[in-house]
Amino acid sequence: MTNSAEETAIIETVLGFCETGETHMEDDLMLNPVIHYTDTDRYDREVEVLFRKFPIIVGHVSQLRAPGEYLTHDDTGVPILVTRNRSGVVKAFANVCRHRGARVVNEPCGKAATFSCPYHSWTYDLDGNLRGVPQEVGFPDLDKASRGLVELPAFERHGLIWVRPTVSETDIDIDSWLAPMAEQLGSLSMDTHVVYREWTIPTEMSWRLALEGFQESYHFCSAHKDTACSTYLDNQSVFLDQYPHIRHAVPLARISTLRDQSADSWDYRTNFMTQNYLFPCNFAQVMTDHVYIHTIIPTGPGRCVFKCMMLIPEEPVSEKTKRYWEANFNVVRTVFDEDFAIGANIQRGFAAGVNEHFVFGRFEAGLQLGQKAIEDALAGRLTV
Ligand code: FES
Ligand SMILES: [Fe+2]
Repeated sequence: MTNSAEETAIIETVLGFCETGETHMEDDLMLNPVIHYTDTDRYDREVEVLFRKFPIIVGHVSQLRAPGEYLTHDDTGVPILVTRNRSGVVKAFANVCRHRGARVVNEPCGKAATFSCPYHSWTYDLDGNLRGVPQEVGFPDLDKASRGLVELPAFERHGLIWVRPTVSETDIDIDSWLAPMAEQLGSLSMDTHVVYREWTIPTEMSWRLALEGFQESYHFCSAHKDTACSTYLDNQSVFLDQYPHIRHAVPLARISTLRDQSADSWDYRTNFMTQNYLFPCNFAQVMTDHVYIHTIIPTGPGRCVFKCMMLIPEEPVSEKTKRYWEANFNVVRTVFDEDFAIGANIQRGFAAGVNEHFVFGRFEAGLQLGQKAIEDALAGRLTV
C-alpha cells in the first residue's frame, strides 16, 4: 500500500492529536439559521440550483457495463434515462417522450437496442435519436432530427455514473470539478468493484439533516455509543477543505500503534474511515476494504431519500466471504438507522420553534465547510 503525500500528512496530524489531545479546529463556531432547514422558498431554490445544476451520482459502471444496458433514475424529480450506446459511451436523457410527454422507459434497468414509448410507440435509439413514428403521415414535415430525447450531461468517472439533471447551457468540465478529489478517488479502483447491495431509505427529515450526519464525528460516541464508537478515535477527525468538496478522515482507534512504526510502513487505508463529501449531495464513504456511495436527495420540504450502494472489490465466492460482507452491511444499516432516527426527531422538533440557530462547533468542521459551499452555490458564486 502506498499512501499519497496527503494521506501521510493526515496520519502525522492524527498522531500529533494523540500526543497533545487536540483535534481539528476551525477558527470560530458557526451559527446556521434554522430557517435554512425549514423555509420552503429556500427549499425551492436548493432544488433549482443544487439538484439541477450540479452532477449527481446515479449509478455504478457495473450496472451499465455493456452497450445497450440502461437504468432509470427518478429521485431528483427529473425522470432520467441513462444508457451505454453502441460506442460504449454513457449517455443520459430526460425520460420524457417528445411526442406528448409520456415516460418512455418504465423499467429500473435492463438491456435494449431501442426504446419504444408506451403511449403511441415513438421509438428512440441508445443515443436518443427518434427512429420511428407510427403512421408518420399524420405528422407532415416532422423534423425527426430535432425530436430526439433531450440529452443531459452525463459522465463516467472513478467507476461512478454522474448526471446533471438539467440541460446544460455550457459544457461541464467534470475533471476540473472532481480535481481536488481525483487522486484519492482514483486510488480506490472503484471501476473494478461490484455492487454488493443497493438500497434506498425514504426519511422524514430535511436533506440537510441527513447530510450533516456524515460531516462530523463528534456524535459517534453518543449516537453510536454501542456501535461505531469503539472503532474510532473520539472526535479526532481531520478535515481537508477540497472546495467545494470535503475530505473527512476519521481515524480508527488502532492508529495509535503507528507511533511505534517507521513512517514508510504506515498504511492510510487500513487506519481510517473517510467520509468524502462530493458537492452537493454525494458521499464516497471509504472503509478499510470497501466503499459506500451515498446520495441524499430531497423529495419535499422536510423529506428526503438516502440512497446507498455498497461497493466491494469482487463478487463474493465463498460462503465465508458472503457472511463477511453481509455482516458489514448489517452493521452499517444499524448505524444509519441510529443517525436517521435522530434526524427525524430534529425535524419534528422544528415545530417547537425554540431554536433560531443551530451551533456548529469549531471541530464540526465538515458542517461549516459544507454550509459555506452551499451558500456560495445558492448565491451564484459556485458553479460547475
Ligand atoms: S407520448 Fe410518446 S409516443 Fe405519444
Ligand atoms: Fe452517524
